[in-house]
Amino acid sequence: MHPQPTASSQPAPLHLRVNGTACQVAVAAQTALLHVLRNDLELNGPKYGCGLGECGACTVLIDGVAARSCVMPVAAAVGRQVTTLEGLGTPESPGPVQQAFIDCQAAQCGYCLNGMIMTVEALLRRHPHATEQEMRSELQHNLCRCGTHVEIMQAALRAGELHRGRTIEQARAGA
Ligand code: FES
Ligand code: FES
Repeated sequence: MHPQPTASSQPAPLHLRVNGTACQVAVAAQTALLHVLRNDLELNGPKYGCGLGECGACTVLIDGVAARSCVMPVAAAVGRQVTTLEGLGTPESPGPVQQAFIDCQAAQCGYCLNGMIMTVEALLRRHPHATEQEMRSELQHNLCRCGTHVEIMQAALRAGELHRGRTIEQARAGA
């Protein structure tokens, strides 16, 4: 016979701040942040790819810095600002980096794009004038099994333009 769970066996709630909103989750401290975001908070922007910190599909921002949420215990996010793809914009009002990836139709299956977008977002936040070479360097450990790297680089460069304050209309006109 298995022992019955008791109230004391429930993990203590962890307090998080995700996309600017305070929330709490009752999960084991070592649970991967990715699973908490997807399973408990219904934020499905970050994707499960390798689960080993190697592909980038699960990337989120922690205090504005790109991090791989599949290998980050949720407890490590307590007291920090977590930003997911959903925190950058909405379908009706996408953020500049999201808009750039839409404009360039950079997706094939789209599975890698969360990681691409979040990585570019993090780079542009700390280095708004990032060069193409710096973009390439930043994205080199984000894997795309569909091989849409050319479109992804075009989107990254366009994201830089939009992020630097050019209006979406100006960018579309190629101004
Ligand atoms: S799923 Fe996290 S790096 Fe691959
Ligand atoms: S578009 Fe399919 S993995 Fe990148």
